[in-house]
Amino acid sequence: MGRRIDFFIEFAKAPLKVGAIIPSSRYLRRRMLSSIPFNDDIIIVEYGPGNGVFTDYIASSLTPNSTFIVVENNPSFYKNLQEKYKSYPNIHIELGSVEDIKEILSSKGIEHADYVISGIPFLSLGTEFTHTVFSATKEILKPSSQFILFQYTRVLESILVQHFPRYQTSKVLINFPPAIVFKAQA
Ligand SMILES: C[S@@+](CC[C@H](N)C(=O)[O-])C[C@H]1O[C@@H](n2cnc3c(N)ncnc32)[C@H](O)[C@@H]1O
Repeated sequence: MGRRIDFFIEFAKAPLKVGAIIPSSRYLRRRMLSSIPFNDDIIIVEYGPGNGVFTDYIASSLTPNSTFIVVENNPSFYKNLQEKYKSYPNIHIELGSVEDIKEILSSKGIEHADYVISGIPFLSLGTEFTHTVFSATKEILKPSSQFILFQYTRVLESILVQHFPRYQTSKVLINFPPAIVFKAQA
């Protein structure tokens, strides 16, 4: 319950950036992560982890040779995750904006990722921001890798298709609000 209250406090401070009043459900987490081969050594990036509802599962599922880069621009969410994962050599919690993902990865000597998972509320952050992030995401993904995101409406689909013409969608009703998961091929 404490984690939910912390999340709500951050929502109250910056509703457009946080974009949800409570963290995602475990049903949404399962759907978002179901296509990731956690037995393989992979490079995975998470955008907008919030209080870590996807982060914790990914961190506990990775092989020791996998690399996990997490980008959050809210200092409070960042601080909690940084504290939690500071002793994990293959998990990097970064304070910054996902618009700068190419620079963030190259500062770690990484050019390409196998998976990008996103919790970013693109709809409330605007069209220009969304184009910038989708374009940078396409550049950092290896061919045949996946960009996995959720939204509460289909409004951003017309932007997604310009960068990622091949994608599948599915609904997760047990979440507040109900969510649509987009799994896009790079
Ligand atoms: C809807 S919450 C999702 C949190 C979590 N992934 C979940 O599903 O419960 C959106 C998150 O994106 C973060 N965020 C918003 N804009 C961002 C940006 N430009 N760069 C990095 N993180 C951002 C917010 O601070 C917040 O933690």
